[in-house]
Order: sequence, then C-alpha cells, then structure tokens
Amino acid sequence: MLNIEKPILSAPMGGATGPEFVAAVSNAGGFGTIPLWGQPVERVRFGIAQVRALTDLNFAVNVNLAFPYQELLETCIQENVFAVSLFWGHEPSAIKTAKDGGLIVLASVGTADEAKQAVDAGADIIVAQGWEAGGHVWGNVATMALIPAVVDAVDVPVVAAGGIADGRGLAAVLMLGASAAWIGTRFLASEEVAIHETYQQGILNASESQTEWHNDLYYVKWPNAPHRTLSNSTAQKWKSAGHPLTSERPNAGEIIGHKPDGEPVLRYQSYTPSSGTTGDVEAMSLWAGQGVGLARKIMPAADIVNEIYSDAKKVIQAGYANSKNF
Ligand SMILES: Cc1cc2nc3c(=O)[nH]c(=O)nc-3n(C[C@H](O)[C@H](O)[C@H](O)COP(=O)(O)O)c2cc1C
Repeated sequence: MLNIEKPILSAPMGGATGPEFVAAVSNAGGFGTIPLWGQPVERVRFGIAQVRALTDLNFAVNVNLAFPYQELLETCIQENVFAVSLFWGHEPSAIKTAKDGGLIVLASVGTADEAKQAVDAGADIIVAQGWEAGGHVWGNVATMALIPAVVDAVDVPVVAAGGIADGRGLAAVLMLGASAAWIGTRFLASEEVAIHETYQQGILNASESQTEWHNDLYYVKWPNAPHRTLSNSTAQKWKSAGHPLTSERPNAGEIIGHKPDGEPVLRYQSYTPSSGTTGDVEAMSLWAGQGVGLARKIMPAADIVNEIYSDAKKVIQAGYANSKNF
C-alpha cells in the first residue's frame, strides 16, 4: 500500500524530524513521516516542498488532533500528499476529510477497540502504539500485548510502535502479526535529527530503566497528555515535592532556557529541545521510549534503516533454520 521496500516507518517526532531526516528514511527504502502540526500554512507548504526536493518517494504528513488541524488537513489535500498520519484521539470526520481528499490514512491507536473505530471510519492502516513508546503516549497497553489484539481486531495492515529499536524488535512485531514497525527513539540517535546535543547525549547514555511515564508532568502548552521522557532534574524535583498539582509545583513558571528564535522555555513545558536551544536543556522534556537502551551510537538514518532491516532478516532466517532442526 505504501510502496516501500523495507517494513520500517520512521515515527513523526515533533521538533526533531525535519525534511532531511524524512527524505533519508524514504530514500533508504523505509517510509518517512513529517510532523507539520502547529505551523502556519506557509510553513506546512514549505515543509512538504522541502521533503519533495530531497526525495521522489512516498512519505506521510503527521497531524496532531489535539490542536486545530482542519487547515493542515486541507493543505495536505491541496498539496496532494501521499498520506497523512492522525494522532491523539479518534476523529471520524478527520479520517473522512482525508479519504475524500484522496489521501491514505494512517490512524494511531492504543487499543483494539479504537483500531476498529478507526477502520470503520475509513482508516487504511492502523498504527498501534504501545506504552513503552517515547513522546506522548495515547494508551496504556504494552506493545507485546497490544499488537496481536489489534491484528486480530481489524483486517487492514497494522504498524507496531513502541519499544522497537533494532532488528530483533522488528522481527518480533512481524511475528506478532504486524506488517511493519514505527520507530521513534532509535532514530533520535541519527545524524539527521535536529535535537540539542545534550538531549542526544542523554539518549546515548540512558538505559532501558531510565525513562519515566507521567500523566501530566510537561503540561505547559499541551496539558492532559501522558508522555514518556528521560528521567531528569525536573522530574526529580517534582517527585521529591510529592507530585504537586500544576500551580504548586517547585519552580513552576520559571524560564529555564530559550528556543533558537528567542522564545522562552518554561519549566514543565512540552518542548523538544532542538539544536540552537539555550539554557538548562537537561531540565527540559527529553522525550524517549524504553527502547532507548538500544540507541548506542549516532548513525546516518539510512544506516539505521538498513541495519534494522538486515538484522531482522537474519533473525527470521535463523529462526526458520533452527525450527528445521527440531
Ligand atoms: C521526540 C519524540 C517526539 C514525538 N512527537 C510525535 C509527534 O509529533 N506526532 C506523533 O504522532 N507522535 C510523536 N511521537 C510518538 C511517536 O510517533 C512514536 O509513537 C514513538 O516514538 C514510538 O515509540 P519508540 O519511541 O519507542 O520508538 C514522538 C516521540 C518522540 C520520542
């Protein structure tokens, strides 16, 4: 359906995955997705044009349903993009608008029931996101249990997300019935992502036990949206103070740094520190999933796609060879 050679989709990562990264994934035989939500129409058009300047292959535009999205969706249709990925909740009208506009729709879900609803509304592909995932995490079910449940519930291709970071993970989710993997955190250790070096170093150093899932820790600018990040000083301060509510948090409202354009970054703000961010980057929302322990080295995105693909192939072939011996 996506016309790709390798069953690897790069996850859209707001503030991290720009045109260069997305094109590199598609050019390597995978499928790139670009987050363009929260931007004025002209920036959206420019973002799409930039990817197209770097690849003739397919990619998707990611739409966040928690923010106004109608204009973004209309722009994707006008620009004739190949596919959109819809994230954060179920909006049958958004699926219908995209389908009527001729786009392939990938819908992100966290349960089998949500997958059924999305398919009933016309979604072409389901992205099932497990709780291990980095960034904002919609559901509460872990990937291992979620994928077979979703695969059994719908008759469209299912893409597995959350905790998949190497060839073994890709092979595992294919065994669970997924058609492909949707990979975020591992790609944070790629050359083309535009994240701050302190954040990237944090990714390279963290083990599988050094992420935290919270309901509403980084609530400023995107409240009531559970998420998984690296453990850091902000989380530590807040936990030591007994998880106080919004207004009573230690240092709430404090400016801890600035974005490259000079806009302040507040403590507890939902913000991906990009290169060029200044201030106390360690204290910002450093999104990461539990697969972070497998992101050990910065590599070109294409090499990550190729390594995951060929390692998955080896694991699967070894599995067949072993099973012949029984
Ligand atoms: C830094 C970061 C930013 C993210 N931003 C988005 C986003 O803008 N839109 C979206 O649909 N998902 C976003 N996600 C979630 C990913 O799409 C995906 O579900 C997740 O990364 C998969 O799990 P993994 O990190 O274990 O590979 C983000 C994840 C990370 C780590």
